[in-house]
Amino acid sequence: MKDFVESRFVKEVAEITANMYRQGWDERNGGNISYLIDEECVREYFPTDKFIRDIPLGFEADDIVKGRYFLVTGTGKYFKNVIKDPEENLGLVKISEDKKTAHLLWGYRSGGKFTSEFPAHLMSHAVRLKVNPSNRVIMHTHPTYTICMGACLPTDEVVFTRKLWKSNTEAVVVFPEGIGVLPCMICGTNEIGEATAEKMNTHRIVSWTNHGIYGAGNDIDEAFGLIETVEKTAQIYMLTLGHVVNEIPDEVIIGLAKLWNLKMMDGVIEGE
Ligand code: 13P
Ligand code: ZN
Repeated sequence: MKDFVESRFVKEVAEITANMYRQGWDERNGGNISYLIDEECVREYFPTDKFIRDIPLGFEADDIVKGRYFLVTGTGKYFKNVIKDPEENLGLVKISEDKKTAHLLWGYRSGGKFTSEFPAHLMSHAVRLKVNPSNRVIMHTHPTYTICMGACLPTDEVVFTRKLWKSNTEAVVVFPEGIGVLPCMICGTNEIGEATAEKMNTHRIVSWTNHGIYGAGNDIDEAFGLIETVEKTAQIYMLTLGHVVNEIPDEVIIGLAKLWNLKMMDGVIEGE
């Protein structure tokens, strides 16, 4: 059997976590990623009925993720270290038949476990898979300007979305469905997981006020690109705050949506 450390899945996560660390988004153990992997791919590396140990989930997962495999960053692990030692900082788990346990196939070498945000990840995967069966990646990170912007605005997703769309012409093109917004909540809980997943019905990105952001995508690049575009736009917003002379006109935002045939989030742009 092939060595999982050499797999494209581990390589992709190791490269993106190093990149995200370099962006300054993932201080200490900040941030976490989960990546859905098909059983036929897992079979190239492991027998699918032999597990290192079982880790309780702490909640009952949705039917749709039962028996599925996820490559997940470990709790307390530093993004900057994943590339140096993937087997210590990542784990590959299979969700059990009773949906209450994660069977560990590989990783968390020193006895660690999946991220404390796994409820938000798994619940978001379940919702996204129902919306779009190609969605494989949930990514959580702490991008500085997005957090600043959330602290300066009411916790209102129409307001937040409008400010983003009015600051950068790429914004409406990359996330026409807008950004979901949660108020400041206690992280690492099932409650924040449920609230995040609820937003994932209609958005691929969700801002956690005073904390960070969640992004969903078909692959690592797409989830990262989404977050990267929000963060770049938030940076433009924060750097120009109080000085803006040329705000993007509503007609340009409407024109971009028409040009790219996009369904915009309702209520953000007047007359749409
Ligand atoms: P973990 O170390 O458990 O992944 O937590 C990091 C984090 O970003 C919490 O929101
Ligand atoms: Zn976090």
